[in-house]
Amino acid sequence: MTMRESDVNPFLQGNFAPIPSEDDVEDLQVIGEIPRELVGTYFRNGPNPAFEPPGRYHWFDGDGMIHGIRFRDGKASYHNRWVRNRGIEEEFAAGRGLFKGLLELDPGEGMAFKNTANTNIVWHAGKLLALMEAALPTRMEPRTLATLGEWDFDGRLIGPMTAHPKMDPETGEMLFFGYSPFPPYLQYHVAGPDGSLVRSEPIDLEWPTMMHDFAITKDHVVFMLCPIVFSFENMKARGGAFTWEPDRGTKLGVMPRNGGNADVRWFDTDPCYVFHPMNAYDADGTLVLDVARYGRLDFMLPEAARDPKYRDQNSAHMHRWTIDLGSGGVRSTPLDDATAEFPRVDERLVGRRHRFGYAAVRDASVDDGGLPFWSSVRKYDMETGRSETRFFGDVNGVGEPIFVPRSAGAAEDDGWVLALCYDKASNGSDFFVLDARNIAGEPVARVRLPHRVPYGFHGNWAAGV
Ligand SMILES: [Fe+2]
Repeated sequence: MTMRESDVNPFLQGNFAPIPSEDDVEDLQVIGEIPRELVGTYFRNGPNPAFEPPGRYHWFDGDGMIHGIRFRDGKASYHNRWVRNRGIEEEFAAGRGLFKGLLELDPGEGMAFKNTANTNIVWHAGKLLALMEAALPTRMEPRTLATLGEWDFDGRLIGPMTAHPKMDPETGEMLFFGYSPFPPYLQYHVAGPDGSLVRSEPIDLEWPTMMHDFAITKDHVVFMLCPIVFSFENMKARGGAFTWEPDRGTKLGVMPRNGGNADVRWFDTDPCYVFHPMNAYDADGTLVLDVARYGRLDFMLPEAARDPKYRDQNSAHMHRWTIDLGSGGVRSTPLDDATAEFPRVDERLVGRRHRFGYAAVRDASVDDGGLPFWSSVRKYDMETGRSETRFFGDVNGVGEPIFVPRSAGAAEDDGWVLALCYDKASNGSDFFVLDARNIAGEPVARVRLPHRVPYGFHGNWAAGV
């Protein structure tokens, strides 16, 4: 009997395994009380392959599924839908998986490509966009979660869009980029507060790379050029489309927001990989950038990344870079020993000085099995260096924590931390509403979801939606 990929791949098992249904459930069971001020929808995206993969599966390959938890009048409802782009519709029509994944990229085979839109879901200028970094955004209908189709900004966006655009809290602009293995390796884009694409600028990079995210400040944009090299050349000899080449070091490209490619200054730091910065800001001639930093990234070798020999380096820790824009030096400061990912700040402070940040972390006592598994939510106080941690249990994985302020003018940590958590004992998922000033205390509300929500990537709060 032939082994199926789901028999051997941990990303198709346990709470990484996909769920088969699309549901709408009103008036969810709540332990505690949903704050009346919490009105809007939490959207979360993540991989949920509709069919058995036809080849080797990487966690990044799965079809995007959007989960929406809507709050109104102290009540909550749940909705989930696949992002139905052309690729998955072809698979539904065929009744089986048709597309090969990242680990089997082969441009020689014509490389049929599927826009899974599985990574993030953002709300900007009245549009809900499901994002994956190798393709155009996909517009979703926020109430029904129906797929409205790929969105190219009225024909103006040429090339893919990162899954991590930044919304400037003052200007209402959406800043983003797209990368490619072919020149131009990087393009920077700005959408105005009305959602129209107003600027596209090619940026010179020393090498093509997988650039997952970036950072902005009030006056600058920061690109992180890490030594993971993306090329379809000599793939056999190089071991895949992405190779780890630490001798190149890591370069931080700082561009004035009112400047362009010619104004980018590159600052050197040690080789590392960063999927996600927490935030960045300008301060007295320096640029401060807090990130979840990996010592190395065996991206095409998930088995090697799980090898105890490399596992620690293949995990991230919170870290601060302070770039001296005068002298050009980069001060590198570890912030925490814990393994951490999915760092976030109060969205009202994106690009501005933050005191608090939140991340999913793994308690040192927890056996992760080499998987991206997070047992706790941690709140960092960058001013005092202290942190507060809520532990969900050593078998219950928690996802990216996001902060929602109590009101538009509320203080930086006056509000709630929202997080999805899997409960292994019941094989179900709960949505936690925590008091941001007491995240380890009794939850404000624990919303029981109608079925488990597979571990995924990113979510965001859309107020009033
Ligand atoms: Fe991400």
